[in-house]
Amino acid sequence: MILVTGSAGFIGSNFVLDWFAQSGESIISLDKLTYAGNLENLASLKNDPRHIFVHGDIGDAQLVGRLLAEHRPRAVVNFAAESHVDRSIHGPEDFIQTNIVGTFHLLEAVRTYWSGLTDTEKTAFRFLHVSTDEVYGSLAKNEPAFSETHRYEPNSPYSASKAASDHLVRAYHHTYGLPVLTTNCSNNYGPYHFPEKLIPLMIVNALAGKALPVYGDGQQIRDWLYVRDHCSAIRRVLEKGRLGEVYNVGGWNEKANLDIVHTVCALLDELRPRMDGKSYRERITFVTDRPGHDRRYAIDARKIERELGWKPVETFETGIRKTVQWYLDNQAWVSNVQSGSYRLWVEKNYAGRAR
Ligand code: NAD
Ligand code: DAU
Repeated sequence: MILVTGSAGFIGSNFVLDWFAQSGESIISLDKLTYAGNLENLASLKNDPRHIFVHGDIGDAQLVGRLLAEHRPRAVVNFAAESHVDRSIHGPEDFIQTNIVGTFHLLEAVRTYWSGLTDTEKTAFRFLHVSTDEVYGSLAKNEPAFSETHRYEPNSPYSASKAASDHLVRAYHHTYGLPVLTTNCSNNYGPYHFPEKLIPLMIVNALAGKALPVYGDGQQIRDWLYVRDHCSAIRRVLEKGRLGEVYNVGGWNEKANLDIVHTVCALLDELRPRMDGKSYRERITFVTDRPGHDRRYAIDARKIERELGWKPVETFETGIRKTVQWYLDNQAWVSNVQSGSYRLWVEKNYAGRAR
């Protein structure tokens, strides 16, 4: 079996669901169930004997040590993190705690477990750390996309904490020989995306008749990848990646935020037209920019394609249509995640931004 952390979040839950669609191998899931973790994402696995869910913190080395000793996984895939840039600006401490200190404790527990394995098990073991393109900082318009050797230049407390965790993972390989792999991926989108992030927020706000808040001039560029393509990249790296290596994962799909919002509005105009006949676009509101906002991310995904033969299968057009349709079909999921704490966050992040 494998151990997956952060499995009740957006990408983690897609990864677990996708894993069982491809393989019979069991998973033990570990998640702290923060505001971003939602067991409803894994509801279809409730009575599935291949899946064991454990509520807990990656920073609890005793718990992780016990789980490793009991279940003896052949690999650990680490998704657990605080992941929202705006939240890291309002309150960086949780990011330091989980992304840096938590990853450190997880690595320590894994190192102890791995040291006690037989030589054959040791050779086969993998620790895969899921990271982000944000560690590389921001690109100017005409600069080449981020390769794996691009220097680290994180600009937000979130990306700085992810950069620190990447360095710890690298050091555990270099110093202790722990068989690690790291993936640095661009912006994901798809089902189960928490509606604090751009694409689900725009869909959910549009359907609720609310404003669509675009930061600054809306010309910041992100490189979008359908979440299931990210999951297949992780599986490929786990299976075939060279030890100690970093693989950048992206969709060759750079788009300005405003274009993303226009696309979402056009799809909603087609799939769920407004009663008054107007376009959802009419609700776009330009608001005060994110402090330190990175202007452009772009991933050079040639290494993973060349070495491991991985390429995304979804185009942005097919992926975004599926995504919008998923939100239309899963309104109950949306209203369940919009709890009191979600409303407080929306108030905190957007109240001061009106322009
Ligand atoms: P998410 O915020 O949706 O989910 C994070 C999950 O981790 C939640 O289920 C949460 O409960 C859990 N968690 C948080 N702290 C924990 C702790 N201390 N112990 C155990 N579980 C904990 O995030 P996501 O978008 O699914 O991102 C998953 C990973 O992928 C993160 O490491 C993120 O940095 C990385 N990543 C995300 C994107 C993206 O576009 N979303 C892109 C590249 C990389
Ligand atoms: O690049 C990978 C990263 O992508 C991941 O590491 C992060 O975990 C993930 O959250 C995401 O970070 P971003 O900051 O790029 O994603 P977000 O959806 O928050 O914002 C995308 C862009 O949209 C960004 O330029 C900010 C802008 N934006 C966002 C929100 C929430 C708006 O214009 N308005 C908004 O209300």
